[in-house]
Amino acid sequence: MTRTQLVMANWKQQGSEPALKHWLSEVSVPDLAKLSRVLCVPLPYLAALRQQRATLQSPVLAGAQLVSAWSGGAYTGEVSAAMLREFGVAYTLVGHSERRQWLQETADSRRAQLAALWQQGITPVLCVGETAAQHQQGQTFAVLWQQLAEVLDPQPAPGPLVLAYEPVFAIGSGQPLSAPDAQQVHQQLRQLLQHWYSAADCQQIRILYGGSVNSNNAAEYLRYPDIDGVLVGSGSLKADSFNTLCRAIAAVNTSQCVALP
Ligand code: PGA
Repeated sequence: MTRTQLVMANWKQQGSEPALKHWLSEVSVPDLAKLSRVLCVPLPYLAALRQQRATLQSPVLAGAQLVSAWSGGAYTGEVSAAMLREFGVAYTLVGHSERRQWLQETADSRRAQLAALWQQGITPVLCVGETAAQHQQGQTFAVLWQQLAEVLDPQPAPGPLVLAYEPVFAIGSGQPLSAPDAQQVHQQLRQLLQHWYSAADCQQIRILYGGSVNSNNAAEYLRYPDIDGVLVGSGSLKADSFNTLCRAIAAVNTSQCVALP
């Protein structure tokens, strides 16, 4: 399997420029050949991130948490994919549950965001996940199907895609879905993707788990064959715990994944 592990830090609406500078000066993990790290900062900090990334010994890619559905024009407050690219953004979150819930983003908007990112050569990280009620009612599969279909139908993506499976009840709750349960969903997601992609392409798409991941539990997820990385919110704010988390993941030997029944 050739999928590179991916650890994404999502700072949400948190941090400051001094905090970012401090984080970047502290972040340092040796031997990361098989692990990519992305830091999704609030937009105003992209310039500082670009400036300081250039001096880092241990690479961190730039990520954004949002993008405009429009490519440009009179849309006050919006930031286009082309602008993100100017600041070296390589990955951008789309459809995070907090934006679905609080910002009322629609499927049409998500679809347009994906198209805008692909046009600029930025990899979208499409976040999907069910609520606690949907989970309890056994609707996980149906919800994920709907969340994929509404943006991928009728055409498959014209560019690279990363999925982040984040059950809504696990986000910020301190109650992560267990790694074996996450593996089951990831396996289903990979099967669902076959509706739009060839079997070979499905094997290349990285699927991250997110929701209360921290330096103590992160490595456990990577021991499962369909979990290719993690999306980390509060557990990424402090550089030392983020370093510990990355080291723990890098130490997982993926050729000895947990055997599935
Ligand atoms: P959390 O957030 O790690 O704080 O649960 C994850 C996310 O929302 O991406």
